[in-house]
Amino acid sequence: MSKRKPLIAGNWKMYKAGPQAAELANRLKSLVSDITDVDIMVAPPFTVLEIVAEILEGSIIDLGGQDLFWEVEGAYTGEISASMLKAAGCTHAIIGHSERRQYFGETNATVNRKVRAALIGGLIPVVCIGESETERESNQTFSVVQEQLEKGLEGLGSDEVQRITIAYEPVWAIGTGKTATTGQAQEVHEFIRRRMETAHGNSVASAVRILYGGSVKPENTSDLMAMADIDGALVGGASLDADSFATIVRLAMDVVGDKA
Ligand code: 13P
Repeated sequence: MSKRKPLIAGNWKMYKAGPQAAELANRLKSLVSDITDVDIMVAPPFTVLEIVAEILEGSIIDLGGQDLFWEVEGAYTGEISASMLKAAGCTHAIIGHSERRQYFGETNATVNRKVRAALIGGLIPVVCIGESETERESNQTFSVVQEQLEKGLEGLGSDEVQRITIAYEPVWAIGTGKTATTGQAQEVHEFIRRRMETAHGNSVASAVRILYGGSVKPENTSDLMAMADIDGALVGGASLDADSFATIVRLAMDVVGDKA
């Protein structure tokens, strides 16, 4: 069996206000109540974190923020700190999602500051990296991913890096229905793991979970999860439907026993 326990994470993005969030959390909680061998995390909008935390208490589902700011506190209108996420019940924080990079000026340097803040604040950073369509077409996939990884994790020690989860999300596959093929995904995941090995050694590289994200749905979960270096999924659209998300979790659990 693989040393790495799969993680299926749901990024709710800017969907689900109060009652809808509560309904989704309640339904999901009951659908995955018998799940073992797979970790589960959902990242709802900030405004419903506490409601969702209360519902998920006593379940195996962890909670994450979709972003955070690197300062501990202060006059930073609109921002959320690591300790605020912690106080709301979060154990994880998604950092550097391509939508944050694309629409809100997130850079590898800001990702780095946020990763440090999350680690100091006792949260598990889920660091998102991935190339755009143009970058893939011009054969820059590996150089882009390498730069995002190196700059995003710059200056961190191996003890810190092993607490991080990476999410490889090719931008062209997000919300488009175009999933990377298993070969395309595995190739980049393996590359990421090799880079981690070069930087931090074998034990860190083989412990770090690398999730795939980009149009993950029940139909493609088993094939993706069967790949040696794919340790889970960061699911957008399909995480908004409790049945689809729970099916993805269940399919990931089925693959666990088959992976060497
Ligand atoms: P979709 O699953 O909707 O493509 O979104 C992926 C994603 O961005 C998860 O963070």
